[in-house]
Amino acid sequence: MNPKLLAPSILAGDHAALGIEVAKLQANGLQWVHVDIMDGHFVPNLTFGPHMVKCLKKHAPDLFYDTHLMLSEPWKYADAFAEAGSDLISVHIEPDYDPLPLLRHIRKLGKKNGIVFNPKTPAEAIKPYLEEVDMVLAMTVEPGFGGQSFDTSVVSKMEKITLWRKEAGLSFRLEVDGGVNTETAKLCAAAGVDTFVAGSAYFNAADRAAFEQSITHR
Ligand code: DX5
Ligand code: ZN
Repeated sequence: MNPKLLAPSILAGDHAALGIEVAKLQANGLQWVHVDIMDGHFVPNLTFGPHMVKCLKKHAPDLFYDTHLMLSEPWKYADAFAEAGSDLISVHIEPDYDPLPLLRHIRKLGKKNGIVFNPKTPAEAIKPYLEEVDMVLAMTVEPGFGGQSFDTSVVSKMEKITLWRKEAGLSFRLEVDGGVNTETAKLCAAAGVDTFVAGSAYFNAADRAAFEQSITHR
């Protein structure tokens, strides 16, 4: 079993002060930060590029930069994010391409890789890649915006992936992203999730440390 981790999504932070936000995460003892990269094409929103990762690392060099690429052409940008200092680069299965060469390329760059699937995508779509990944990311909202409600239909897909992980003796992380709060995290933990992205719930929590504990120590 992988130890449980919370990866706050800085999408929900103050974008004019993200250096301060990541420095706070590091000072508060968090290990991971989730960075959402959106191209206004694969998803209907825009965020930031590799230079942001490079700059954030100066403010919080000890964090693990979990970089979620929501891009129509992820293969064009993996090198730039690796160069900028991303520690894990995850790519969606939905664009029309073969993700395997890209997943292997990310590892050759010395980074961890991840495969991501949207709520409407069947879990079976990612099954052929399980031996090639460090993480599977299950989206529990349509990607693009923070603050949406958790789609409970994805829980049974998490259970399938957890079963496949066990059957194959693999140890990739299983991450959830979208509408994660203390309640929905319970469902995910029961389905085998070990890595929890939280944007709004973390940044709006009255007590962020207590929120983190409630996710990672249950
Ligand atoms: C959605 C992003 C998420 C988002 C989660 O497209 O991938 O990481 O920030 O935000 P919350 O936790 O607010 O649903
Ligand atoms: Zn994300």
